[in-house]
Amino acid sequence: MIGIAVVGYGYWGPNLVRNFAEVPGARLVTVCDLDRDKLKTVQARYPGVSITDDLDEVLRNPAIDAIAIATPVSSHFRIAMSALMAGKHVFVEKPIAASAEEAERLVDEAAKRRLVLAVDHTFVHTGAVRKMRELVTGGLGEIYYYDSVRVNLGLFQHDISVIWDLAVHDLSIMDFVLPSRPVAVSATGMSHVPGEPENIAYLNLLFDNNMIAHIHVNWLAPVKVRRTLIGGSRKMIVYDDLEPSEKIKVYDKGITLGDSATAKGDKVYQALVGYRTGDMWAPHLDVAEALGLELREFVKCIEHNETPIADGQAGLRVVRILEAASLSLSQRGRLVELEQMRRVA
Ligand SMILES: NC(=O)c1ccc[n+]([C@@H]2O[C@H](COP(=O)([O-])OP(=O)(O)OC[C@H]3O[C@@H](n4cnc5c(N)ncnc54)[C@H](O)[C@@H]3O)[C@@H](O)[C@H]2O)c1
Repeated sequence: MIGIAVVGYGYWGPNLVRNFAEVPGARLVTVCDLDRDKLKTVQARYPGVSITDDLDEVLRNPAIDAIAIATPVSSHFRIAMSALMAGKHVFVEKPIAASAEEAERLVDEAAKRRLVLAVDHTFVHTGAVRKMRELVTGGLGEIYYYDSVRVNLGLFQHDISVIWDLAVHDLSIMDFVLPSRPVAVSATGMSHVPGEPENIAYLNLLFDNNMIAHIHVNWLAPVKVRRTLIGGSRKMIVYDDLEPSEKIKVYDKGITLGDSATAKGDKVYQALVGYRTGDMWAPHLDVAEALGLELREFVKCIEHNETPIADGQAGLRVVRILEAASLSLSQRGRLVELEQMRRVA
């Protein structure tokens, strides 16, 4: 049995606790939070689980093999690093850390100690996103663009901007689904609450090929939208996460390019671009709870010494983009090369 401790029992921590309680091969030993009232709730719901507000007690406990961290982002690095140094495997909430430098140090420490380091990129474990990856690698053709809107009247965070809260989901999905990685990012955004981080942002991501991505995130929208388009040369996907069942729709639509050399005069335009409008279909999707699958995978990786889908490297790649986007945003959308950021770091 893999002994588990969950650190942080605020909004998201209870989901980790509930799911770990169901994972075969795992035993939830302890929940740790600084807030004693939250711990009382744990005690009432899970009488067999011990509670503490002292992280050192968790780190010293030999019955605990792995620590799952659901505390605010600014504390991820300190808690994850002390867990790794105490020889514990780590599952940390998104984003993995508050800077690329911190994320890199976690990746190195886990590798040095041969410990599993996983980041909660929840969406990559959903049936919809796994299906998109399948479609992107088989059938969509050349990928032209990724275009996503993730807006609602969201909870304003005080320690991170909307990019670090919401765009992290799209960046982790893109990292998993797309065949290539962005090379540069430009971001603009605004805060509408004085002294607080940006609550609306637009990210443009450039790639080495002719693919382009755009992400729009906003905590101050009157309606909730979770909608992504992926355009391919052969087919296109619409992913609407708010749809109860048909979250993914695949459209056999697009353009066909003609041979300009054979076209003359007015006919040039029509000969260059033809339109194809075929069928739409909605593939069957696995509806299992993503977090449950993800925690099972984490425990399996510990048992068999394997690497999780969303490992420390995936967490680091996403944080590099978040950091570059924040820099761009502070400079009114200047294009920031990701390779250049690596050299600076
Ligand atoms: N995967 C997802 O879809 C998803 C969704 C929401 C939040 N999250 C992530 O979960 C993390 C927590 O977010 P939240 O909304 O639950 O925050 P929250 O503020 O509601 O809860 C954080 C909890 O951590 C506790 N805490 C803070 N510092 C601590 C410490 N040093 N030791 C022990 N406990 C400590 C607080 O008392 C609080 O109960 C963030 O990284 C966030 O990005 C992920």
